[in-house]
Amino acid sequence: MHITRHAEARSVLDDAAYVPPPVRQDGAKGTLAWLRAQVSRFSTGEIHAGRRRALVELLAGLEPAELRRAAAAMTEERDGDWRGVPTAVLASALGVEDTATVSAAASGYLSGEESPQADAAVARLLTLADVSVITLLLQGHAATEGLIENALRHAKPGDDPWALLEETLRQDPPLRATRRLDTRTGETVTIDLVAANRDPDVFADAKRFDPARGPSPHLTFGSGIRPCPAPGHALALAAGVLDALLATSRPPRPR
Ligand code: HEM
Repeated sequence: MHITRHAEARSVLDDAAYVPPPVRQDGAKGTLAWLRAQVSRFSTGEIHAGRRRALVELLAGLEPAELRRAAAAMTEERDGDWRGVPTAVLASALGVEDTATVSAAASGYLSGEESPQADAAVARLLTLADVSVITLLLQGHAATEGLIENALRHAKPGDDPWALLEETLRQDPPLRATRRLDTRTGETVTIDLVAANRDPDVFADAKRFDPARGPSPHLTFGSGIRPCPAPGHALALAAGVLDALLATSRPPRPR
């Protein structure tokens, strides 16, 4: 089933009968497959609740305003070369200084695509941090960079970074869909976040990109039982990068 309406998406995300599609549980210790079996994102019920609580506690120790300042300063220091900045700032706040392997591990983390490179990256990360910290780094990496990349496509001189990011999240989200398994029927449900965020019943003139719209009930950070626990942190990291880039109107360096 493919869900495109906002109300229907919310009711699936609110309903414990819909769970993330299960991941394999038999990966060798220290591999990407093993890691995926340890994390909140792919677990359900009490196990999910316990793992999520640990992440929420860790996140409570981070100050979003400080992340924003640090992301702006690092972007400045790197002369506008912002790739890797959100992850480096988040990692440093969590006590990890070496983030070279995060992107290699992050690419398979959500998709489940296994590779020797991803396994080596996970093994390296496990020497630097525990599973909770690694979860935060891998969850946040691609989505936050994707948000900045999309926002920069829409940015105009004088835009307020926060308003630009809010509307980017709604209208041009870095995560385009999320999936659930209906435990009663075995059916896989795809929630189309782009379509739900443009539902005309909820958003006036929904297709138009309008930073003046202000915060809106978009579903890009999820909803219901297991929404993103770090929307303020993600926005702060992205806003810090944009503070530096938009203030100087410096074109971002190519990758
Ligand atoms: C623009 C950036 C981000 C977006 C759009 C985003 C979006 C999401 C969404 C939609 C989910 C829920 C997935 C689902 O219900 O299927 C999620 C989960 C999660 N996100 Fe984010 N996220 C972002 C950045 C971050 C950052 C920076 C962190 C860490 C600091 C983070 C940590 C997590 C964690 C740990 C989960 C799993 C929660 C759980 O299992 O209960 N996210 N995120």
